[in-house]
Amino acid sequence: MKTAIIGLGNIGSRVAKNLAAGGQSIIISERNLAKAQQLAAELDGKAEVMSIDDAAKKADVIVLAISFDAIKEFIATHHGAVAGKIVVDPSNPIAPDGKGGYKKIIPADQSSGKIIAGLLPEGAELVKAFGTLRAESLGSAANRSPERAVLFYATDYPEAGRAVAKLIAASGFDPVSVGGIDQSIRIEVGGDLHELGKLGRLVSVKEAQALI
Ligand SMILES: NC(=O)c1ccc[n+]([C@@H]2O[C@H](COP(=O)([O-])OP(=O)(O)OC[C@H]3O[C@@H](n4cnc5c(N)ncnc54)[C@H](OP(=O)(O)O)[C@@H]3O)[C@@H](O)[C@H]2O)c1
Repeated sequence: MKTAIIGLGNIGSRVAKNLAAGGQSIIISERNLAKAQQLAAELDGKAEVMSIDDAAKKADVIVLAISFDAIKEFIATHHGAVAGKIVVDPSNPIAPDGKGGYKKIIPADQSSGKIIAGLLPEGAELVKAFGTLRAESLGSAANRSPERAVLFYATDYPEAGRAVAKLIAASGFDPVSVGGIDQSIRIEVGGDLHELGKLGRLVSVKEAQALI
């Protein structure tokens, strides 16, 4: 399985570093390829740099570490390439509120996971994952000891879920499923299982299982 990380900002660069540290061979991709090449140099040849178009075509798993709106744009442009693939969505549907904070940009009772699932072509399998912690925590809590921290995920596709759970484990966290994509809202910002939501902290598997 080839995993591509598209977007190498706060989340994408940390997911890439954690996966590379976990021995995964990955594709990294950015609009600005020089930025991807710089990260690849830091990863000691464990990451292959590709254009977004090539990464979308060559990968089996595509992690879209870009904003909710950019994901919608990506799916519209790469509809053909994502069919038959596992698409990983870490997005939180928020934008700056102009007062130094953030506001949700979709109705309060909706999730980006469900909206993105509805935009994907037949055969693409969405897994909501890698977005339940702040980027800083994703970097600092990888391989936490003595108990690993949890990354929650949601999907309607059990096999895709198992594949992404393996990636979560390789990246230094314990994977915990919250169920189908209709549970996505629980693991997005503001949700009861998000670090920037009612949960407000990192949890171990035991704590996570008690919460689900
Ligand atoms: N930051 C967090 O703590 C956090 C936590 C959980 C989940 N998330 C979610 O993770 C995703 C990424 O967040 P982030 O904080 O990593 O954002 P970020 O640091 O702003 O990085 C975003 C990346 O997306 C790229 N990008 C922007 N528009 C694009 C487009 N139209 N097509 C392709 N690439 C595009 C940017 O490239 P350029 O440099 O060329 O603009 C950049 O590489 C978001 O959906 C966010 O909600 C973030």
